[in-house]
Amino acid sequence: MHNSDTCRIVVLISGNGSNLQAIIDQIDTGTIPAEIVAVISNNETAHGLERAKKSHISTAVVNNKQFDNREEYDKALADCIDQYQPDLVVLAGFMRILTPEFVNHYLGRMINIHPSLLPKFRGLNTHQRAIDAGEIKHGVSVHFVTPELDNGPVIVQSVVQIQKNDSVQSLADKVHKEEHKIYPLAISWFAMGRIKFDQEKLTFDEKELAQPIVLE
Ligand code: GAR
Repeated sequence: MHNSDTCRIVVLISGNGSNLQAIIDQIDTGTIPAEIVAVISNNETAHGLERAKKSHISTAVVNNKQFDNREEYDKALADCIDQYQPDLVVLAGFMRILTPEFVNHYLGRMINIHPSLLPKFRGLNTHQRAIDAGEIKHGVSVHFVTPELDNGPVIVQSVVQIQKNDSVQSLADKVHKEEHKIYPLAISWFAMGRIKFDQEKLTFDEKELAQPIVLE
């Protein structure tokens, strides 16, 4: 952490930014000892950029269409992020696969939110896949990012029930509501120094967290 007690956060987004908004709101109410120092998007039309500007947060776009390959893009993205000297990088609907070099650069200081109860349903279309699989429970996970996609140690999960009449949309709405609770919560734990991932071991209040914290 930097000299001050405030955790410097860079948030990466690709779209709507409702999770970004939930984090901004919780910082404003004083429940997270952190400051969002920049919001960066790969997509210049991402609505989340407007949300950031409304809250007077610096924004930047590193457009993936302007790069020939993933390695060059991730290098430019890291250069942009590092200008802001973050303590934590928060992926909030950043819809890109990241190179191992990029992930390793931020190991232990980059987290992601994924709309499933990991390790179930890594990747895309998680709500549809949960319904198709006949699951009765679904949910959302916050995890540290490691090089393998959606496979890093899970900090916290929130569970929702799948009802017979749930559609992809109704299920997504339920999951989103939980996302907006658990992402700010996980970020507050990181900002207070309560959760740490030292590249091998995930700890909560200095004790190993062998299983994620589950909110039912
Ligand atoms: C969220 O549902 C998040 O879990 C998902 O993108 C959405 C972004 O919504 N992330 C992933 O699927 C990552 N694999 P938002 O832009 O409204 O925060």
